[in-house]
Amino acid sequence: MNPIISFLKQRRSVMIRNLNPLPLPESDLSLILECGTRVPDHGMLTPWQIIVISGEQRWQLGKSCLRDEFSRINPDATEAMLEFEEGRFAKASAVLCVVSKPVIHPKIPRWEMHLSAGAVCQNLLTAALALGYGAQWVTHWYSYNDKMITTLGGNPDTDKIAGFIYIGAKIKQPNERNRPDISQIALRYGQDIKEGQRLK
Ligand SMILES: Cc1cc2nc3c(=O)[nH]c(=O)nc-3n(C[C@H](O)[C@H](O)[C@H](O)COP(=O)(O)O)c2cc1C
Repeated sequence: MNPIISFLKQRRSVMIRNLNPLPLPESDLSLILECGTRVPDHGMLTPWQIIVISGEQRWQLGKSCLRDEFSRINPDATEAMLEFEEGRFAKASAVLCVVSKPVIHPKIPRWEMHLSAGAVCQNLLTAALALGYGAQWVTHWYSYNDKMITTLGGNPDTDKIAGFIYIGAKIKQPNERNRPDISQIALRYGQDIKEGQRLK
């Protein structure tokens, strides 16, 4: 079978808890970024940025944006909960934050720019998995946190965090998960679905 199709048929994310935060070689990071940004982008607007969080910065950001913000939002949080938040980024070798930064355009809707940012997330994830790393795309609570968006150079009024891609060495192979029944979600127009029929 074609090796790319074979890879895509089996591709599976690796949960953050199954990552080992060994250092990520710069050469692999460069490949992941190069492949990750090779996405469809209507109008070639490049309406997104990737912030690489690695090394000591995982802890710095963990303290200033995860621990401190979690504590502010959850005044009853225990020390154990705060330590968990502070250490989140350090569970990965590197965390790539994709910030969707739509621009004003006379024809291209903002929605399409956000979709392109989603494509960046998926490509980063796919590239990391293809290189043999474990990786997971998450948003968690802190993607929707204004301080996080501002700290990472975004404008909370217009920009959105499309996701954080956690990358690390795989501690164990992931199990398969349930997949949608293709016949239920890919419908042939005129056969499975007729004009105007409301989809379930
Ligand atoms: C936009 C987006 C946000 C997600 N956020 C989370 C999250 O916050 N927490 C989580 O456990 N999974 C989250 N997921 C799902 C995980 O990445 C999940 O592991 C993944 O869907 C597994 O699918 P795969 O093995 O086909 O890659 C998110 C997925 C997407 C597309």
